Amino acid sequence: LSDGPLKGKHILVTSGPTHEPIDPVRYIANRSSGAQGTAIAKALIALGAQVTFVTGPADVAPPAGARVVAVQTAKQMLDAVTAAAPADAAIFAAAVADWHVANAGDSKIKKDKSGLPHLEFAENPDILATVSQMKTGRPALVVGFAAETDDVIANATAKRLRKGCDWILANDVSPETGIMGGVDNDVTLITADGTEDWPRMSKQATAEMLADRIAKAIA
Ligand code: C5P
Repeated sequence: LSDGPLKGKHILVTSGPTHEPIDPVRYIANRSSGAQGTAIAKALIALGAQVTFVTGPADVAPPAGARVVAVQTAKQMLDAVTAAAPADAAIFAAAVADWHVANAGDSKIKKDKSGLPHLEFAENPDILATVSQMKTGRPALVVGFAAETDDVIANATAKRLRKGCDWILANDVSPETGIMGGVDNDVTLITADGTEDWPRMSKQATAEMLADRIAKAIA
């Protein structure tokens, strides 16, 4: 571990998409690459933090120097996050699926069996809200993301209060921004004190700026 302002701090980072099975060979997923979460973990490690990195199946390799816990589903991600506690801070950068398939098959659903399959959905646990609202052992700083396509700041501000986290990084993921799966990010930091619009910059630079802010907040 490098020496730095976050030396001795344990920080939990979630990253990547989740995969929700339809049957043993099929799943529902989303386009998260894991790039922003991985960059955040790297930036925290560079400042000396001990990072537990709970990741769904991502496109990018997990950060060197982190304790990596690989999961598939939202339920598994919640269990891994709970098992990794306590932490001084928790950053929820994963794009967790909102739903899982309640009637997922134990064996492969056959194409020729009595017509089209009927998938039933059930809500996934909200990991960010669960941790934010912990009665004991809540991390001192809980940070979430709000990826929105409309009314970005208003929706993210409401989300911060609804979930109970300390900070939200709001970003516009409309396709024309090129943010989802791209190199750059363009975020607004929302805290209890107000909003702060950060310039468009690389996900790595965004991660370094966030890590600096986290160090100032909890070091
Ligand atoms: O509600 P929404 O999915 O837009 O919230 C996004 C934020 O909540 C992100 O920080 C994401 O990691 C987190 N989240 C979570 N568990 C869920 C859904 C979202 O931790 N089931």
